[in-house]
Amino acid sequence: MTIAVNANSKRVIGKRSPMLYGHFIEHFHRQIYDGIFDPSSPLSDEDGFRTDIIEAMRRIKVPVLRWPGGCFVSSYHWKDAVGPVRQPLFDKAWRVEDPNTFGTDEYIRLCAKIGCEPYICTNAGTGTPEEMSDWVEYCNLENEGRYAKQRIANGYEKPYKVKYWSIGNENYGHWEIGAKSADEWGRLVRESAKMMRHVDPEAQLSAAALTDLDWNINLLKNCGQYLDWISIHQYWDMMAEVNEPASYEECMAFTKNIARSVDEVRGILTAMGLEDSIKIAFDEWNLRSWHHPNVHTIRLGVDRNDYLSPRDKNDVNTTYTMADAVFSACFLNAMNRNCDLVGMANFAPILNTRGCIYSYDTGIVLRSTYHVFDLYVNYLGDTVVDLWTEEKLPTMCVLDKNGRETVVEALDLLATKWSDRQGMAVAAVNKQTTAAQEITLWTDGMESDEEREKTGAQVILYTVEGAGPDSYNDRDREEVRIEQKSLGAFRRGMQIELAPHSVNVIQIIPAS
Ligand code: AHR
Repeated sequence: MTIAVNANSKRVIGKRSPMLYGHFIEHFHRQIYDGIFDPSSPLSDEDGFRTDIIEAMRRIKVPVLRWPGGCFVSSYHWKDAVGPVRQPLFDKAWRVEDPNTFGTDEYIRLCAKIGCEPYICTNAGTGTPEEMSDWVEYCNLENEGRYAKQRIANGYEKPYKVKYWSIGNENYGHWEIGAKSADEWGRLVRESAKMMRHVDPEAQLSAAALTDLDWNINLLKNCGQYLDWISIHQYWDMMAEVNEPASYEECMAFTKNIARSVDEVRGILTAMGLEDSIKIAFDEWNLRSWHHPNVHTIRLGVDRNDYLSPRDKNDVNTTYTMADAVFSACFLNAMNRNCDLVGMANFAPILNTRGCIYSYDTGIVLRSTYHVFDLYVNYLGDTVVDLWTEEKLPTMCVLDKNGRETVVEALDLLATKWSDRQGMAVAAVNKQTTAAQEITLWTDGMESDEEREKTGAQVILYTVEGAGPDSYNDRDREEVRIEQKSLGAFRRGMQIELAPHSVNVIQIIPAS
């Protein structure tokens, strides 16, 4: 069945923030130490950062990098990790020693090298409003007070002007150190926001929300007027305790209602009249949760093989297949469609663990999800336009991870244009495991299709598909990459074939 896809560049949904393609990095396993920060590596620069990893991050134009956690932050004290003498800490979240040689100053320098905005998550577990606001002093005051002067004494004359701050991480969760009740949370966030704002009234503040009504109503009642963002996190293939990755088809079941948490939070914000003043930061998302057994549980591992060495299983590259790429494209399409409310999304994490980049001593692997970010950042437009199909989208019936039959749409489509040039780009995801799908494009709008034909607009197809649904990349193995194919001159109603298990961007570019 050929699906007629209508996209009209005059009917604008909204201009998406580049921060929809943001990322997250935590002091966990090999994300920071032996990851991006590896002073002993011959591949590192004078500051100890892996230049190959930074180059890969720059290629996908990382717009914002959230740090230092995640659960790690809920017993982290930033003052131990600035200045010439660093106090190592025992990281009570992940139960390892952190040397604290990578702290705020190193993080800011890293963001400068990547060319991204910093986004600091503060300790609302064991921390206090004063400690959070002291951090804002250290980063953002010119030279007033103790902490700005400390930054200058550490060799950093100019303030860092960190714009984005999160008050706490998942403080609603029993697993989080210093977890809070809904009532405690609303008051703590309000008092923290007050002090942070008194230091820097321009700081943009976020705090953890939930799709749980009580939690959000308490949060927003107490401090809705102080917040610019509320933060939501979601992982779908839960593997924290048992590392059994869902299959391709099981992962397709996860695409059903993929933006449900956005819809629910939108409803709460609207009900409270805050939908125009607060945006959503989906600041941790990934198809697959991280594997770290016996640390978030009452029964804590005693033997390091119980809770520490299993983290190496996150590094098995065969896990990250076209399922991760197809799911991630569906998620990014949904965030683009909600770009009026979702202003930031952070892939968790960017490096190692479940990240889109995997590093080892002599190089890196660009996992399947990396190529989706490359496709969306570098080949898709920044303005979402209306898209409709004349028929109902085809569906597919798959078994979810619990063996239940689930019907999902087999195609996921998003139409865009650019704010600074002519042309259009349509993202088209074919979730089918083995079947190709055909679409025809009708793209009237700023230019009519007839004009496009006359002017000889060109159609280019960029595809991430791999050889099969379980294709993956690894050291000395690149099965998944962006393939480019010219489809020639634009013709009204032209048929375009989408390969099975593929993420596609179809560009319609006016003849130069
Ligand atoms: O599994 C990693 C954890 O996932 C992050 O530290 C936390 O924010 C989320 O629960």
